[in-house]
Amino acid sequence: MTMDATSQRFLMCRPTYFAVDYAINPWMDPTAPVDAGLAIRQWEQLRQTYLDLGHSVELIDPVAGLPDMVFAANGGTVIDGKAMAVQFRDPQRADEAPAYRDWFEAAGFELYDPKHVNEGEGDVLLAGDHLLAGTGFRTAHASHAQLQEVFGYPVITMQLVDPRFYHLDTALTVLDERTVAYLPEAFSPGSQAVLRRLFPDAVHATMADAEVLGLNAVSDGRHVVLPAQATDLAAKLRDRGYETIGIDLSELRKAGGGPKCCTLRLRQGKASK
Ligand code: ARG
Repeated sequence: MTMDATSQRFLMCRPTYFAVDYAINPWMDPTAPVDAGLAIRQWEQLRQTYLDLGHSVELIDPVAGLPDMVFAANGGTVIDGKAMAVQFRDPQRADEAPAYRDWFEAAGFELYDPKHVNEGEGDVLLAGDHLLAGTGFRTAHASHAQLQEVFGYPVITMQLVDPRFYHLDTALTVLDERTVAYLPEAFSPGSQAVLRRLFPDAVHATMADAEVLGLNAVSDGRHVVLPAQATDLAAKLRDRGYETIGIDLSELRKAGGGPKCCTLRLRQGKASK
């Protein structure tokens, strides 16, 4: 099988003001030290990796006082030139939503405002012709209906059950149009059955991989950028013919984020979906 890489357009936010000042997921410990300079260097390496792969990376200006704004995946959902803005569950992140919304508007995307809590691509993943939408911790189930209405893809609800894997993109990675990798135990029994039905050939990750946020990966269909510590998952992906690129984002992981969290995919028109 030949694996074709698709060139991607990404939005990222430099972690200039990154810190762990509050705890809104089990990874965050505001009393633990964070090396802000190292966080920036690790993030720069992620950005450079995308550029080396031939992807384009656009940048949104970081805002002082919004330490989690580096997690651009939570800034929106962008498919077929339409951008759905976000509404955060937690007040600490609320002011990120208008900053990202303004960026989408200035970039010329057709804008939609969320009617319910919706944390963007953190919980909304396009897999082939289906939108997989997480709920249980952050994005409200009610927002799934709006996603289907706005984007016109069938939305499949994924019930998350483990608080460490609070966003869908910490429990499942889309590898290409047909394949995903996921941690079965992060999902309810019903959602596990749906995943088996939709993706019988999926890669099953281990808890050890998920515990280093290994599933918070970015694939262009051929290259998979994932946390360097997720060595078992990387080996399984290489067995399937993917090229893996390990990145150390240890500082950002202290906020519960990995490569995918730092990366928002901007999907233009139908052709580049
Ligand atoms: N500290 C952030 C939060 O809890 C991390 C967000 C990670 N983003 C993601 N797409 N999983 O909201």
